[in-house]
Amino acid sequence: MNISFNLNGTRADWEVAPGETLLQAFRAAGVFSVKLGCETGDCGSCTVLLDGQPVNSCVVAAARIHGCRVVTLEGLLDDDLMIRLQTELVEHGAVQCGYCIPGMLITLYALMKQGPPIDEKAIRHALTGNLCRCTGYVKPVEAARAVVAALEVSK
Ligand code: FES
Ligand code: FES
Repeated sequence: MNISFNLNGTRADWEVAPGETLLQAFRAAGVFSVKLGCETGDCGSCTVLLDGQPVNSCVVAAARIHGCRVVTLEGLLDDDLMIRLQTELVEHGAVQCGYCIPGMLITLYALMKQGPPIDEKAIRHALTGNLCRCTGYVKPVEAARAVVAALEVSK
């Protein structure tokens, strides 16, 4: 079946199979920031924004996104907030193997876009769906808190 949607600001027309997941469609199309992890909706490595909300693309049917707006990390590479998030994660030592990081970045980006109040509890809650087997969560949370502090200062 054919689907048309907005991918990172550009119209995309894709042929997808019935039952194909959004994650599978991304990987077939070479959108490799969207990581393939558990494929059961548990690890968050496949997180993308679907109409502004973070979703696990491994449990979304590709056909479901017809007419929707989808954003992956590729679409945010020049975004100031995303660059700040990436920088803080690196500077806080939150990136080790890196496999969880694209999904974690998308989740944190969506949280920051929600606006205040963004306290540590909100950050920890947002990251509950993004599993990291290397770093844990202290450093990513510290990095996110640094971004929040910077956003407060720049207001
Ligand atoms: S691959 Fe989608 S949640 Fe793990
Ligand atoms: S940095 Fe390796 S899983 Fe998170």
